[in-house]
Amino acid sequence: MIRVTVGPRGWILACFLVASGVAGATDNSSLYERLGGRAGVTAIADTLIDRVSADPVLGRSFKDTKIRRIKDKLALQLCDLTGGPCHYDGDPMRQVHAGHHISQAEFYGMVEALRAILVERGVDLRSRNELLRLLAPMKRDVVEPPAKPAPAEPAPGTAPSIAPATAADTHG
Ligand code: HEM
Repeated sequence: MIRVTVGPRGWILACFLVASGVAGATDNSSLYERLGGRAGVTAIADTLIDRVSADPVLGRSFKDTKIRRIKDKLALQLCDLTGGPCHYDGDPMRQVHAGHHISQAEFYGMVEALRAILVERGVDLRSRNELLRLLAPMKRDVVEPPAKPAPAEPAPGTAPSIAPATAADTHG
């Protein structure tokens, strides 16, 4: 049997590593390392897409899409974005989400799902916020503003006057 004696300093260090989230990650390490490296970003992408696509509300746009491809490209994107040794080769964000009519509420729903996964995986607050800050600017490419309704045609004879106000219109 292997017996390891851990002194008080060892326990303090062990507690710090658990509290800091991913074992082995230090203050100087890249966000990619703090997320758990390749295995970490892969698990985050897989879990996120599994949860969001199975959600009765958020899953709407994922019907008839290639889930395996989305997971793989998202993992690659997370790796690239956080300083890992990867190059994202998927489609541009605006192009890939166009036509799915993704709302702001759906975007925030996905962000919440991601935040929950990061907490479950023991990713510390600083790293969670760092990742969310990197993803936030993509909102403008993912969310499609609802189409503006065409202005209603006024009924004949009821058109409001658009003539500029004259002195006769003003009282006093
Ligand atoms: C910052 C947030 C997001 C990121 C980084 C992201 C990233 C990605 C990536 C990398 C792909 C695959 C690209 C490719 O196939 O080349 C993808 C596809 C997709 N994403 Fe997102 N996404 C985000 C937000 C969302 C949200 C909020 C939704 C809906 C709730 C969504 C729905 C989809 C769908 C439906 C596809 C597949 C599109 C298709 O193949 O037609 N995404 N996303």
